[in-house]
Amino acid sequence: MVDRDRMPEHVAIIMDGNGRWAKKKGLPRLAGHNAGMKAMKKIVDHSDKLGIKYLTVYAFSTENWKRSIAEVTGIFKLLVTYVDSDLRELKENNVRVKVLGNYESLPSDAVKSLEKTLRETENNTGLQFNIALNYGGRDEIMKAVRAIGKKLEAGEISADDISEEMISEELFTGKLHADVPDPELIIRTSGELRLSNFLLWQGAYSELVFSDVLWPDFTPEEYEKAIAEYQSRERRFGGR
Ligand code: IPE
Ligand code: IPE
Ligand code: MG
Repeated sequence: MVDRDRMPEHVAIIMDGNGRWAKKKGLPRLAGHNAGMKAMKKIVDHSDKLGIKYLTVYAFSTENWKRSIAEVTGIFKLLVTYVDSDLRELKENNVRVKVLGNYESLPSDAVKSLEKTLRETENNTGLQFNIALNYGGRDEIMKAVRAIGKKLEAGEISADDISEEMISEELFTGKLHADVPDPELIIRTSGELRLSNFLLWQGAYSELVFSDVLWPDFTPEEYEKAIAEYQSRERRFGGR
């Protein structure tokens, strides 16, 4: 099982399969998203227990706006409910919440709940829980390039000053924002074998673990299996 001495510092998860889970049960898609929130809550708790320092979950992509209005607004409603009802518990567990993505363009009640959570957990020192919301890897890189372009325009830097560190800093995960190291492990559930625009820059050397389990059925046991799989890998980073 998992080796507690070799835990990844940062685990990122593409929580996929809520819709299929609901369909299998003859339920509306939103019932799947609701069950997905419950699964997420357990994984947050379990990450804390395992001593993981950073957990990032992909909750809503920049492409997910293509879905029906009913589904999109339903997802954000569930999110507000989760964030509001769990704030006390997150605080008790010393969890620091951060958002990756352009959450300001979400419905205003969601923005309000999120900002309250960010503010009230800011000084916590336990698990950092990053929620990727309205997040897209390409969008994030584009924004970083833009920010650097502005510095260039202002004459603060020259083109040769642009470095990987400078780009990293400007990403949502960068020192100027959520300040998270690159994930050692990216897990995707539901049997899909792609990144779907998640952590494109940060995932350059992440180990990818795919689980066939649909997200609402992803238990702490499945989570430990994925971590054990990661621990069985040999990471080479281009060396030999
Ligand atoms: C993941 O589940 C949650 C979000 C993308 C918001 P899906 O809603 O993508 O579920 P499937 O892939 O249709 O089963
Ligand atoms: C990725 O899942 C986004 C999230 C889990 C939030 P999708 O279901 O949106 O991805 P595709 O469409 O299958 O690539
Ligand atoms: Mg999906």
